[in-house]
Amino acid sequence: MVVGLILVLLIGAGIYAGYQIKFDQEARARAIALTTGNPDVGRHLAQRYGCAGCHTIPGVPRAQGRVGPTLKGFAARVYIGGVATNSPDKLIQWIENPRSIDPNTAMPITGISRAEARHVAAYLYTLR
Ligand code: HEC
Repeated sequence: MVVGLILVLLIGAGIYAGYQIKFDQEARARAIALTTGNPDVGRHLAQRYGCAGCHTIPGVPRAQGRVGPTLKGFAARVYIGGVATNSPDKLIQWIENPRSIDPNTAMPITGISRAEARHVAAYLYTLR
């Protein structure tokens, strides 16, 4: 009886974990296809350019900034900074030079290059 219950729970947890992995892999593949960037490289760059100081970013160590909005669930966000439609091109432009999209935004130019911004965009699109 107890063994049966444990077995059912284990099987359930296994199925859940399996779906979770499949879901993550699909999100990753989609992010790469959208941006042609590398999400792993982007995750490191988000730390190097100080994004983490202002933003909470899941998966980036010590990224608990509260100056800007959390980037959790960014893939599902409709607008960037409340002004531009969330598309790969606009996101890369925003990361490189947010004030070229919204001159009044509080987000500064961090000195990140366009090529590097592409990798960061790839990482942000893995965030569900
Ligand atoms: C000095 C603080 C600061 C730094 C550093 C910073 N940001 Fe921001 N960021 C902000 C603020 C504030 C906003 C909100 C802007 C607005 O709505 O006008 C923002 C908005 C954003 C948005 C839009 C979020 C949304 O949901 O609309 C993205 C994406 C973003 N930042 C990514 C980054 C990345 C990537 C970096 C590093 C290259 C970075 N930010 C560095 C402060 C910062």
